Amino acid sequence: MQRAGDTQDILGRVGNTPLVRLDSLSGDGCTYYAKLEGHNPFGSVKDRAAYWMIREAEKAGILNSTRNTIIEPTSGNTGIALTGIANLLGYKSEIVIPEKASEETKRIIRSLGAKVFETSDDLCPKVGAGTDQSIALATSIAENRQDEYYSPNQYANEANFTGHYKGTGPELWEQTGGKITHFFTGVGTGGTITGVGTFLKEKNPDVQIIGCQPQKDHLIQGWRNFEESAKPDLFLKREDVVDSWSHVTNAEVFGLVKHILEEDGMLVSPSSAAVYACMKKHNAPDGSHVVGLFADDGRKFESVYVDQGIMTSSEFKDSLARSAHSSETFY
Ligand SMILES: Cc1ncc(COP(=O)(O)O)c(C=O)c1O
Repeated sequence: MQRAGDTQDILGRVGNTPLVRLDSLSGDGCTYYAKLEGHNPFGSVKDRAAYWMIREAEKAGILNSTRNTIIEPTSGNTGIALTGIANLLGYKSEIVIPEKASEETKRIIRSLGAKVFETSDDLCPKVGAGTDQSIALATSIAENRQDEYYSPNQYANEANFTGHYKGTGPELWEQTGGKITHFFTGVGTGGTITGVGTFLKEKNPDVQIIGCQPQKDHLIQGWRNFEESAKPDLFLKREDVVDSWSHVTNAEVFGLVKHILEEDGMLVSPSSAAVYACMKKHNAPDGSHVVGLFADDGRKFESVYVDQGIMTSSEFKDSLARSAHSSETFY
């Protein structure tokens, strides 16, 4: 459990996540890597956005000792990250989450101390007017109680971009010794793809930035299908940075989870399996250095994997024990 004295220590561990070689995909011609964002202190890539959004709001004086409750619509990981970081810094948090998010995700957010509102939204809250119950609820509470509430609004907050432009992008450049040729990630708010993409293109305009698109009615918590959901403002601002899109189905994703466990020794999340699927299908020329962003790990997805018939509960526990994870996650 966290202690107050650990605050700076824990916050200092946001970012600088490992980049590992994917042996199952790498061969003589190309090298494939996974950026393991599950090693962030609250277990996902969203620690970066949450950290930057809270710090920028503090600097601007928007968050302070009286306006001290953070409210945010999220499909899961942002809720965990915001709540965990808010706790460390002495703020309260209220999270609006779609019912379809995994039970484990909702339990973690509650156990970290947030008040949780569930809405009947799809897995990813939609951004279009009239369809975004999670966003509408959070915005309405924040607007009507400005003395107490602050909503970072990750869908438009520039600090979400900055966390990746100043953190994830430079880390990848350094970790690959400037050799990265392709970057694959899913898109929720677009913070990751635009932040990393903008940085990498400044370093080398030939780096290919590939967005992963799930099928309609997908089961990938945190991702957005742009035929079902509007593009967020943050993404629209720099969407030109995306060179191409790779499409992936639920069946492809769930068909790969056990393969990755067996071949690479990792129990991955559905979104990481989806990134893996997109990298696997892509025809990268010899000499390529292909990186996929694994936004979190498999720990929160027992109920999803059991529901999908991927594994039984006891197989899940066994897989978890065999899988390499960060032991330093604070939930
Ligand atoms: C599992 C997962 N992958 C990818 C993303 C996409 O990140 P971004 O919001 O930066 O586009 C998210 C966002 O919530 C996520 O939870």
